[in-house]
Amino acid sequence: MAQELTILGLESSCDDTAAAVVRRDATGRGTILSNVVLRQDDLHAAFGGVVPEIAARAHAEKIDIAVERALTEAGLSLTDCAGVAVTSGPGLIGGVLAGVMCAKALSAATGLPLLGVNHLAGHALTPRLTDGVAFPYLMLLVSGGHCQFLRVEGPETFVRLGGTIDDAPGEAFDKVARLLGLPQPGGPAVEACARDGTDPTSLPRPLLDRAGCDMSFSGLKTAVLRARDAQVARNGGLPRAARADICAGFQAAIRDVLAEKSRRALASGEVTAFAVAGGVAANRSLRDALAAVAAERGLPFVAPPQALCTDNAAMIAWTGIERFDSGRFDDLSLAARPRWPLDQASAPMLGSGKRGAKA
Ligand code: KG4
Ligand code: ZN
Repeated sequence: MAQELTILGLESSCDDTAAAVVRRDATGRGTILSNVVLRQDDLHAAFGGVVPEIAARAHAEKIDIAVERALTEAGLSLTDCAGVAVTSGPGLIGGVLAGVMCAKALSAATGLPLLGVNHLAGHALTPRLTDGVAFPYLMLLVSGGHCQFLRVEGPETFVRLGGTIDDAPGEAFDKVARLLGLPQPGGPAVEACARDGTDPTSLPRPLLDRAGCDMSFSGLKTAVLRARDAQVARNGGLPRAARADICAGFQAAIRDVLAEKSRRALASGEVTAFAVAGGVAANRSLRDALAAVAAERGLPFVAPPQALCTDNAAMIAWTGIERFDSGRFDDLSLAARPRWPLDQASAPMLGSGKRGAKA
């Protein structure tokens, strides 16, 4: 029997200011009592990407509002919670600091235990919150800033089986959208455009010929640039149909690489399920392909609802709950860490995307 536990979670590592209250009941099941996400899209839209200084200031201005709302929506006060969990890395340092400072203040004022948690652990443990998935399971984190395969063996035990050596797929979707004159965020725009493709452009499947689970996506975007320029040279512009074919070809290349590398990751050891998280996991054609790979091995495919795949504080509160039982808490010396690989033993990644350590 687990101990019933209610934890307040805070998240501010990139461009979402978030607070949530999550409860684990005596059977071990998690319930999200509130999940507040204050987005900053408007603040960054004009710059074509997240501006760290603007993000940090917005987090500092909004984090207490998010906390207040999360408590109100849960119908609880701070003292009804057993602890405060906060993303203490990895991420944009100014934002992480805003969250950590707020959590420290709440802990100091109430005496509640403080838990500094890893943002990536939050994503990786979400399938346990949503679906009660048992360890060990395979997690593919695929977002605007991250792409990695993790074997999740325990609340604090992660083995990285491979990942991108350059761009993350979401970043590639966004860049390709820019190259083709489609709006941001690029993923949904490219996916919508790809639906009209009738003859997908043939593009490379980078690193498929290399053993293991590492991936590379930056070359794909160069291939898209060439395909676009060839169309422009031929037609004096980019016809709609050609744009749709390039989108379809690009999406198929990403899908095929992720599916094959997932197959390899699943073959590397026994797991209870194959789970995905991150914004790119919203892509229908990718989701279907990954579900098929899981089915090949007779494994459940777990894709948490979109709001819990992208950045949120419910996953941070849950990670705090999973850690709470160990009795190891942080104190006011808790540091904000810009870089914090989940698997300390594996070699550092070559790149982590222009948005840094976002997953
Ligand atoms: O996890 P997420 O919300 O946070 C960041 O990493 O910032 O992921 C956002 C990324 C963006 O790059 C976006 O273009 C991509 O996820 N994305 C998609 C789709 N929806 C969002 N990529 C492909 N297909 C989609 N339907
Ligand atoms: Zn994330």
